[in-house]
Amino acid sequence: MGRVHVLDHPLIQHKLTLIRDKNTGTKEFRELLEEVAMLMAYEITRDLPLEETVVETPLGPARSRVLSGRKLGVVPILRAGLGMVEGVLKLIPAARVGHIGLYRDPDTLQPVEYYCKLPTDVTERELIVIDPMLATGGSASAAIRFIKERGARHIKLMCLIAAPEGVQRVQSDHPEVDLYTAAVDERLNDHGYIVPGLGDAGDRLYGTK
Ligand code: PRP
Ligand code: URA
Repeated sequence: MGRVHVLDHPLIQHKLTLIRDKNTGTKEFRELLEEVAMLMAYEITRDLPLEETVVETPLGPARSRVLSGRKLGVVPILRAGLGMVEGVLKLIPAARVGHIGLYRDPDTLQPVEYYCKLPTDVTERELIVIDPMLATGGSASAAIRFIKERGARHIKLMCLIAAPEGVQRVQSDHPEVDLYTAAVDERLNDHGYIVPGLGDAGDRLYGTK
């Protein structure tokens, strides 16, 4: 069973509080989401493998370590996932970026796919699927299914706020996927919004409401 990692670093929790605040405007929301994504990427990459190397310092050779193993890829779920990409890329600039376009039908709450473009070598990469909100889990589960269908095997899911229902859905549909979140909130409301959550992530990010 994939593990659920609640990232409780004080800076992540502090920024999450500011992001939740209904008085935080679009510009600040966007900046904070990028910053928190960078901090979360730092935590998520803790287990990346290293290998020994030798580097020449001005004073001579030093045994040191560099990243080894699979290359990384980042796959934001459009739209709101886009708000976390730049933060992740600040720490992992060589990562390739794929995009999955999904929106949640407001009546059925089912995800509807409208775009998918992934790096050609997804089978060889470790992929981090990114979306700030894991509500019913329908969107994240579908996104993970799409990239598995295209051959990806090593997948992590990073979100900012999860509902218990979404956690359960991802664990049931994709038991091998580790999930990283800054919070698991109380519940979903009747419209499938996370309570207390932060509202509509896409709208707050892009000022569309
Ligand atoms: C939001 C959010 C997730 C999805 C989560 O996107 O960014 O993708 O809802 O809900 P779920 O877990 O119940 O599937 P939305 O559908 O509002 O699209 P948008 O990002 O384009 O606004
Ligand atoms: N999508 C959002 O943007 N917010 C929620 O609370 C649930 C789905």
